[in-house]
Amino acid sequence: MIIAIDGPAASGKSTSAKLLAEKLKFLYLDTGAMYRCIALAVIENQIDIKNKQSLKDFIDNFKLEMRTINGVSVFLINGENVSKKIRSSSVSKKVSEISAIPSIRKYMVSMQRSFAKNTKCVVEGRDIGTVVFPKATIKFFMIASVEVRAKRRQLELRRLGEEITLKDLQKDIEARDKYDSERSHSPLKKAFDAIEIDTTNMTLRDQLSVMVKNVNLKINRK
Ligand code: CDP
Ligand code: CDP
Repeated sequence: MIIAIDGPAASGKSTSAKLLAEKLKFLYLDTGAMYRCIALAVIENQIDIKNKQSLKDFIDNFKLEMRTINGVSVFLINGENVSKKIRSSSVSKKVSEISAIPSIRKYMVSMQRSFAKNTKCVVEGRDIGTVVFPKATIKFFMIASVEVRAKRRQLELRRLGEEITLKDLQKDIEARDKYDSERSHSPLKKAFDAIEIDTTNMTLRDQLSVMVKNVNLKINRK
């Protein structure tokens, strides 16, 4: 059973997905983190993404490991724990361009489907309800104003020791939203059967309670 959560940057997907998964005792898959991992590897290995052969060689040799340690998702590339590094603003700036590449999406989608196969899983990203799991039992689409999303990201980055102005964050989020929504392959889009939640004025607690209510309604109806 899959619960799909999609929406733009900092709309509240990851935090609520994790809490929902804990509450329901489901697995949790953060597909954005997977794209951030491959973006980090592209940057660190200085891969020329325009060169088809070097991109292919890179993907063929890319090994991503996902583990859950004490309830926290951990991502390893060649044994190195990159869970913190992938949140940096240098990765955020490049990730949309890299995740728009069809061969990269193909690799990731296949990994996501095999991770969630025959499990109960909350999966969050951009194309989960539309492309990766179009038959998900329940789909949510989160939205929030760009001002609130920039503020949330600023607080998050501050906790990681990075200080960025709200203006810069807003610009980065808007650019990423535009890139993610306008790409030709699996763009960010609300599935026709997704439940939209505007989290602008919601606390995380409010947000989770709306989600739990909808999940219970859906499951009881089955
Ligand atoms: O945390 P935040 O919302 O900033 O982004 P994320 O969920 O970590 O995703 C980072 C980027 O990965 C997005 O801006 C998309 O470009 C890409 N992504 C994607 O293309 N498809 C997904 N299913 C998830 C993320
Ligand atoms: O996964 P996504 O990028 O959509 O967002 P997130 O990582 O879940 O949320 C971004 C930040 O906003 C986190 O620090 C959350 O704790 C915070 N947040 C919030 O303050 N209120 C909400 N209703 C949702 C998220």
